[in-house]
Amino acid sequence: MQPPETLAVGAEVVDTMSEVTTVLLLLLLLLLLTAWSRINRSLIPGPSFLAGLGPILSYSRFIWTGIGTASNYYNNKYGSMVRVWINGEETLILSRSSAVYHVLRSAHYTARFGSKKGLECIGMEGRGIIFNSDVLLWKKVRTYFSKALTGPGLQSTVQICVSSTTKHLDHLQEMTDPSRHVDALNLLRVVVVDISNRLFLRVPLNEKDLLMKIHNYFETWQTVLIKPDIFFKIGWLYNKHKIAAQELQDVMESLLEMKRKIINESEKLDDDLDFATELIFAQNVGELSADNVRQCVLEMVIAAPDTLSISLFFMLMLLKQNPDVELRIVEEMNTVLSEKGENIDYQSLKVLESFINESLRFHPVVDFTMRKALEDDNIEGIKIPKGTNIILNIGLMHKTEFFPKPKEFNLMNFDKTVPSRFFQPFGCGPRSCVGKHIAMVMMKAILATLLSRYTVCPRRGCTLSSIRQTNNLSQQPVEDEHSLAMRFIPRTNSEEYYI
Ligand code: HEM
Ligand SMILES: *[C@@H]1O[C@H](CO)[C@@H](O)[C@H](O)[C@H]1NC(C)=O
Ligand SMILES: *[C@@H]1O[C@H](CO)[C@@H](O)[C@H](O)[C@H]1NC(C)=O
Ligand SMILES: *[C@@H]1O[C@H](CO)[C@@H](O)[C@H](O)[C@H]1NC(C)=O
Ligand SMILES: *[C@@H]1O[C@H](CO)[C@@H](O)[C@H](O)[C@H]1NC(C)=O
Repeated sequence: MQPPETLAVGAEVVDTMSEVTTVLLLLLLLLLLTAWSRINRSLIPGPSFLAGLGPILSYSRFIWTGIGTASNYYNNKYGSMVRVWINGEETLILSRSSAVYHVLRSAHYTARFGSKKGLECIGMEGRGIIFNSDVLLWKKVRTYFSKALTGPGLQSTVQICVSSTTKHLDHLQEMTDPSRHVDALNLLRVVVVDISNRLFLRVPLNEKDLLMKIHNYFETWQTVLIKPDIFFKIGWLYNKHKIAAQELQDVMESLLEMKRKIINESEKLDDDLDFATELIFAQNVGELSADNVRQCVLEMVIAAPDTLSISLFFMLMLLKQNPDVELRIVEEMNTVLSEKGENIDYQSLKVLESFINESLRFHPVVDFTMRKALEDDNIEGIKIPKGTNIILNIGLMHKTEFFPKPKEFNLMNFDKTVPSRFFQPFGCGPRSCVGKHIAMVMMKAILATLLSRYTVCPRRGCTLSSIRQTNNLSQQPVEDEHSLAMRFIPRTNSEEYYI
């Protein structure tokens, strides 16, 4: 094939018309060749390459509309398996349960993807657990998380959740505005961060200040996660995010310093060491670096406020939109309470569990999860080259397969036992949510404590479909309005009490 330069040199001996034609023909050939090689490489539906324009367009959609919104757009347009590009890399978005289940359970997809510079900015590159793609180190770190989040500790979790929720409800006055409304999301965050601290860290802290920094850290996380490298060179765009990430890391460092002092000064340590103590010991014997320990504690502290408190908020909204469900839950709680005395048997709260499941299905916080193929693989006959980015669109999967009323909120969806491949709010397999068991326990304990004392009313006209939301890194309400405030009405005064 002749490069265009040679043609230009020979321009004197041919007339201009044929020169232009040749160049055009060559360009056309080049375009066809690129298009052909693309078509040949993958038979997966998706936006076309368009000589490089396609990748730019699809990347822009991810950046401007958020990862979650873009994923839903492409799955709705091209089907349950779509190929797009993020930052020039081929990315598959999967929403079919068979394909999602395959990826979740396989050992070939235990890494995630994201901008290296972005992950460095928030301290997650090769550290911590959530976006750590250094597989050996991730495995080691994950054992510390598993130990703290599963097993015998779960019973004390219930007590801590109940006592923390009760404590904050006793001081509800302090969070109530003159119109007798409570910022419910913030209340839930305060409760959840207090529980996390009492379970995993156990140091005195300023909840309000910490929550603000967690919020800013999360904003930075979703801003930098898939940004192009050039973003990190533009000071006025990047610096405020860099600072927000640094601030939370600094808070964690000082909390850990406090923790080290406490450990050093205590005569004898409890038999069951908390998460932070285990990590500090691991650092003392050279198992983990100081940076890694700080990042692990940071991620443990932000995990619940970023997910669980927002899930609970959505549940409170859904409850008022479905008064019959609230009635059934309260009825069930009264029965279980009267039978077992003060200790609620959380295993037997089946209506509450169905309600939680249906809420996680119908309006999830975590709508999708990001993975990377570590080996060549084959998903239902489609070749997946090593290095392919994968987005598992679990939220859409829950609305398109198996359930009898997929598009509406209805406890009937959990009347029959749901085979696990069709319902994966926490993922499964080696890289699943390491907090999935404790999260269910925490949600039940907090909800049961709250609902036994209060019925919660959002502002008139505020429903899940009317409040503004974004679906970027996760699905969240927009908080710049008062529409999220709710009234907490003591049950003894409400008609719902007389069932
Ligand atoms: C309603 C609450 C929660 C939901 C819906 C949720 C959901 C998820 C999902 C979908 C993933 C990704 C799984 C995958 O890629 O397959 C995840 C990861 C994770 N979650 Fe949760 N989660 C919740 C609460 C929690 C809590 C309370 C904790 C800890 C205290 C936690 C800790 C983690 C961690 C550390 C990871 C990363 C695991 C890894 O990469 O190895 N989550 N979560
Ligand atoms: C292109 O497709 C043909 C047949 O479909 C196959 O024989 C060939 O190996 C493919 N080439 C590449 C580079 O994948
Ligand atoms: C995605 O998140 C970033 C950071 O919070 C925000 O600036 C941006 O507006 C969000 N995009 C959408 C479409 O919500
Ligand atoms: C722990 O206490 C010893 C003295 O008992 C002191 O020398 C050491 O610096 C302390 N370490 C930390 C981390 O506070
Ligand atoms: C709720 O979902 C979990 C899976 O996350 C499942 O194990 C459990 O059986 C479900 N509970 C009900 C009542 O459907």
